[in-house]
Amino acid sequence: MRQLIAGNWKMNGLQERAAAIAAPLRRGADGLGCDLLVCPPATLITTVAHILAGSEVAVGGQDCHARGEGAHTGDISAAMLRDAGARYVILGHSERRADHGESDEMVRAKTVAATAAGLTPIVCVGETEAQRLAGEQNAVVGGQLAGSLPEGFVGVVAYEPVWAIGTGRTPTEEDVAAMHGFIRGRLVALLGEGGAGLRILYGGSVKPSNAAALLGLPEVGGALVGGASLQAEDFLGIARAARA
Ligand code: 13P
Repeated sequence: MRQLIAGNWKMNGLQERAAAIAAPLRRGADGLGCDLLVCPPATLITTVAHILAGSEVAVGGQDCHARGEGAHTGDISAAMLRDAGARYVILGHSERRADHGESDEMVRAKTVAATAAGLTPIVCVGETEAQRLAGEQNAVVGGQLAGSLPEGFVGVVAYEPVWAIGTGRTPTEEDVAAMHGFIRGRLVALLGEGGAGLRILYGGSVKPSNAAALLGLPEVGGALVGGASLQAEDFLGIARAARA
């Protein structure tokens, strides 16, 4: 399967900046050997989807509510994201787990809602630095997978060690390969044959200079990119490093 290079803009970007990033992506995406996705803030999804319409670059959201509609002030449903032009949604990012107290159960309910609305969920997992130092990374990530993925899950999993996000630090290639192999095993155990073909993205301080090494590792099905996705040239540089 082609690798997926996904950009998570987080809480960055106004209309003008969105156009400045998306327009060069549209031009640069032709002929790449990977799939491209950008996940802008909800206020920019329509703008970015419009700029990228008919291109090779898909658009996604960064979160959705577990309910389809109703009295949930400030929240956005999966159907609203889809209506705005999104095809994917990031769920259970560590920043949402930390800032909004999202539990595995909540992530699982959101994943069900996203799938029902026709979005492809990207479910994020990853250990903190303290958990890695204690050797608990497999137990933590295994627990997050078991708790966050609904039965029959079809979508993408993103492994993002919390301590590698926005820090410029990454795990060693051996550690990334070991964790992705572990996640693959858990996906097959949880989902059967369906777990064998799902893409597992690596996220955390991916940039053009380390992308080829990370994307060349076994069971790495792409990258979830934060900071470097805010510069079109850096994001395309990462995409060019993807395995065909
Ligand atoms: P950085 O690429 O900025 O480390 O962020 C990774 C991330 O959290 C993507 O979801």
